[in-house]
Amino acid sequence: MSGPFDLTGRVALVTGGASGIGVGICEMLTEAGAAVVIADRDEAGARKQIEAGVAADFVAVDLTDEASIVGACAEAVMRHGAPWLLVNNAGLQHRELLLDGTSAHWQRINDVNARAPFLMIREVAQAMIAKGNGGRIVNCASCGLVGQFVQGLAAYLASKGALAALTTSAAFELAEHGITVNTVLPGGVGTPGAIGAEGPPPVGPGNRTPPLGYCSPRDVGSAVLYFATPMARLVTNQVLAVDGGFTVT
Ligand SMILES: NC(=O)c1ccc[n+]([C@@H]2O[C@H](COP(=O)([O-])OP(=O)(O)OC[C@H]3O[C@@H](n4cnc5c(N)ncnc54)[C@H](O)[C@@H]3O)[C@@H](O)[C@H]2O)c1
Repeated sequence: MSGPFDLTGRVALVTGGASGIGVGICEMLTEAGAAVVIADRDEAGARKQIEAGVAADFVAVDLTDEASIVGACAEAVMRHGAPWLLVNNAGLQHRELLLDGTSAHWQRINDVNARAPFLMIREVAQAMIAKGNGGRIVNCASCGLVGQFVQGLAAYLASKGALAALTTSAAFELAEHGITVNTVLPGGVGTPGAIGAEGPPPVGPGNRTPPLGYCSPRDVGSAVLYFATPMARLVTNQVLAVDGGFTVT
């Protein structure tokens, strides 16, 4: 591949690339020429993507564990050099009604959805800066932040709001190193994580069919790909919703 979306020779580290939206992101990046490294706790799922040609390598990580995150990032850098791109995609979507809310649920969701991206950014950005070639970071939040929500998402939406705010802070502190940081908001996708989410029934406006239809993992991947390209060098601290037009209804 050549042209403005060409990522040939560039390494992309994608958390949660073994399943769902992460697979679509890996597909789009691989098709653009990137060497995609999946960081996930699901080794079997990641190996399946490598066999399918969707990714080049895998590093095991438990995103609830700081030492595991530090080790996985070091492993990826040792094998492939500093990534050009980090995609913080992995996330938990379990629900719990606000009035039944527990600290344990809040902690479980926020550890993976907000704390882990913070730690991943810290580790990967250090490697990007040491390499001195700039870089790209894309955080996957949710269209729930702009109205496509259902009941039971207090902890989830708080974690995604934190992630979106982290984008702003990271974009500010990393700009001087030529590193951009942006947020993608996926709309509802029937992934294993969404279908298998625990909790009360998903009641709310998020069930409304968007006028352009539901998005697929590859639709989210194409938004990530735009932010990942060298040509998007002046685009940072932006939020791109892939919502099928939900917000105009
Ligand atoms: N599917 C949707 O409708 C939807 C909508 C909006 C936003 N999102 C967001 O998109 C992202 C991907 O969601 P998905 O639906 O593809 O989910 P998914 O559950 O299908 O895939 C998530 C991946 O993350 C990995 N993962 C989870 N916890 C981990 C941990 N502790 N350590 C290492 N890996 C871990 C899983 O193994 C899996 O491969 C999430 O951040 C989610 O919040 C999804």
